[in-house]
Amino acid sequence: MLRGFIGDPMGFALRCAREKGAIVELPIPGLPTVLISDPALIEQVLLKDHELYVKDHFTRLLTEVLGQGLLVSEGDFWRRQRRMMQPAFHHKRIAAYARIMVVETRAMCDAFRDGEERDVHAEMMHLTLRIVARALFGAGISDAQAKLVEAAIATMMQRYLGILGSGLVLPLSLPTPAARRFRRQMAELDILLLGIIERRRSALHAEAEASDDLLDMLLKMQDEDGARMSNAQLRDECMTLFLAGHETTALTLTYCVHLLGKDPAAEARLHQELDTVLAGRVPQVDDLQQLVFTRAVINESLRLYPPAWSIGREASTDTSLGGYRIRKGTQIWISPYIMHRDLAHFPDAETFRPERWLDGLEKELPRYVFMPFGGGPRICIGNAFALTEAVLALATIAQRMRLRLVDTRDPELVPTITLRPKGPLRACVERREADRHETRGQDSNPPRR
Ligand code: HEM
Repeated sequence: MLRGFIGDPMGFALRCAREKGAIVELPIPGLPTVLISDPALIEQVLLKDHELYVKDHFTRLLTEVLGQGLLVSEGDFWRRQRRMMQPAFHHKRIAAYARIMVVETRAMCDAFRDGEERDVHAEMMHLTLRIVARALFGAGISDAQAKLVEAAIATMMQRYLGILGSGLVLPLSLPTPAARRFRRQMAELDILLLGIIERRRSALHAEAEASDDLLDMLLKMQDEDGARMSNAQLRDECMTLFLAGHETTALTLTYCVHLLGKDPAAEARLHQELDTVLAGRVPQVDDLQQLVFTRAVINESLRLYPPAWSIGREASTDTSLGGYRIRKGTQIWISPYIMHRDLAHFPDAETFRPERWLDGLEKELPRYVFMPFGGGPRICIGNAFALTEAVLALATIAQRMRLRLVDTRDPELVPTITLRPKGPLRACVERREADRHETRGQDSNPPRR
């Protein structure tokens, strides 16, 4: 079993769930682990009994870079931070970030030349990093600084790549070249983030300039006792938002391009929707409701390739689950990848069929069957941000160009913290007819009815 798990954790988990049932013990030496794949059991862990569980062993390894950030903090401290940060992700605030999402995607498209080949995964990673950087810091971060953040995050992810196979991450105190490079990049990143935060805090005190970005909101937030976040805590939250909010959305878009590239009929239907709804205008947040097929494509990409393919908890006390005794310290493994392939709810589960989402399927499904953003009180705080970004970015790209796949075979997947394609995902840029007569800019949008 162990060999099967290390060689192919996702395939192994899927087979276990299908063949052995809703709760399966995995014999991982030194790390007792239970895989659960029944929506009611998942609801018990993530929602009803959530206070009996903490984040799992692997997620906790991220504290060395995220400190006390929202993704890894626990208990009362996490509750206080979540309450303070929630308003920054309110849908009214997301609408304000929508413009950044479209402007940055258009800038990416402008740089693409007709007929050239691009690595879609790399391009989407740059794009979503720029979007989250601008949403966080507005004009307070230069392109060069955003590149530094991107490089540091890539190094960080590299460190956790092998994490599932061995469960081991070498201590940073070891004098290896990789550890040295990691420490240096983290130190540079700290200087950059703390510098931006300190400058902004001073500007706020001096009422020198008004900003309207996420950092501004986080600086102004107070808990019930009127306390504000320290600069160190703000650094941890900024790092968390960079890490949690960039690669996940980039992967969603990357897999959309792959899936559409293999399905000309779905691509044509997407183009038809964009041409009808937008009629040559630049997409904006008010269009979201009408872009139903675009949203169905995003959902189907999240279903087949959930970027957060695995969610983990650890029992913080002896308890029971599904009639079995769970000892303190047991790792509980929940996989959206498995849930999204449940044949009872998704007939033809391995096939890309965006139209399955068009007749209200999402509302009809039992809870914890489709769960790309997790669930319970620790559900993704950036959920609405991510969906707005994914729909607007896909609409902006597909309105202007086709990305023709160089290789239509399904990519080999690397299940680390996120579900990455193994190599580059190459595609050839083909500008659409409509794009030859330039898309009208946001300011030339006709008044909406
Ligand atoms: C398609 C894109 C995304 C996916 C699939 C995704 C998925 C998830 C999942 C599954 C969790 C829950 C983890 C757990 O329960 O252990 C989570 C948590 C989180 N996500 Fe996302 N996420 C996405 C985008 C974003 C964005 C854009 C942001 C911020 C800008 C973000 C920020 C966070 C944070 C801060 C948490 C921790 C919340 C807490 O514990 O209170 N995510 N995400």
